[in-house]
Amino acid sequence: MFLNDNLKVFSGSSNVTLADEVCKYLGIPLGGAKLDRFPDGEKFIKLEDDVRGRDCFVIQSTNAPVDEHIVELLIYIDCLRRASARRITAVIPYFGYARQDRKDEGRVPITAKLMANIISTAGADRVVAIDLHAQQLQGFFDIPVDHLTGEIVLSRYFRDKRLSNLVVVSPDVGNIKMASYYASHLGAALAIVHKRRVSGRDVTAEEIIGDVDGKNVLMVDDIIATAGTMCSAAQILKDRGAERIYAGGTHGVFAGPAVERLSNAPIDEVVVTNTIVLNGQAQQMKKIKVLTVAPMLGETIKRIHRNESVSALFND
Ligand code: R5P
Repeated sequence: MFLNDNLKVFSGSSNVTLADEVCKYLGIPLGGAKLDRFPDGEKFIKLEDDVRGRDCFVIQSTNAPVDEHIVELLIYIDCLRRASARRITAVIPYFGYARQDRKDEGRVPITAKLMANIISTAGADRVVAIDLHAQQLQGFFDIPVDHLTGEIVLSRYFRDKRLSNLVVVSPDVGNIKMASYYASHLGAALAIVHKRRVSGRDVTAEEIIGDVDGKNVLMVDDIIATAGTMCSAAQILKDRGAERIYAGGTHGVFAGPAVERLSNAPIDEVVVTNTIVLNGQAQQMKKIKVLTVAPMLGETIKRIHRNESVSALFND
């Protein structure tokens, strides 16, 4: 693929493998930069490539260690701005803090908005993100946001499995819209699990709307964090007669008890994308399958660089 020297793609330290894959797709080398620390622990970045007047993209997921990855992204953006990049796009495959998007009790922050503010203030001109926790997070940024979805990648995988008698299940009422896209792309029925969140770590699946008896089931969600949502939904689905149960999530955070819960849950396969590098425990788990979002990100970067439509990518 021919792309001129005006395009530069850099990578933060959160997911260099994904950034490498994106650059392979684009047919360009990954931008050179030296990441180091001062003796007091402060981070230091020096670009090794000339970026003056170039269209620059920096790929960084803000998964754990969340604060460290966010600061690194900000330093990268500042570095590019001060080195006279023409345009800076923050490519954030997984956007941490997205779930703190409202004040649902007194005296708490709206951290998703804070993050959006500091990314813009650092000097980003645009953002590319994948499955932000809620669509309206796009409006937290006052710069253009290209919002992609892992649904395309996951749906293709499950379509190729040719599962018969399939029901797509939203394991959470807030996720119905996303589940309905999966159902329509897979030609499947739709069911919903009503969950109650007991704490940040624990949820209880209370009821199912829809019929799963004797059916193969695909539960879909944007994030699998502690896996409480998926595992409690899987149990109620099994109790109501579901046959094979699959869990598909864009972002495999796999925090705290997630791996243990998933190992013990009646789930046959857990499929996520590589927006986040699997942690050590998750890497050991045979039933986790990882799909790549690199071609989707690469194509998006190419289209932004050429001022071509990104939404057309999804219409195709
Ligand atoms: C909730 O609104 C999200 O869509 C996910 O269901 C949730 O973040 C998953 O978290 P966990 O895996 O900890 O239940």
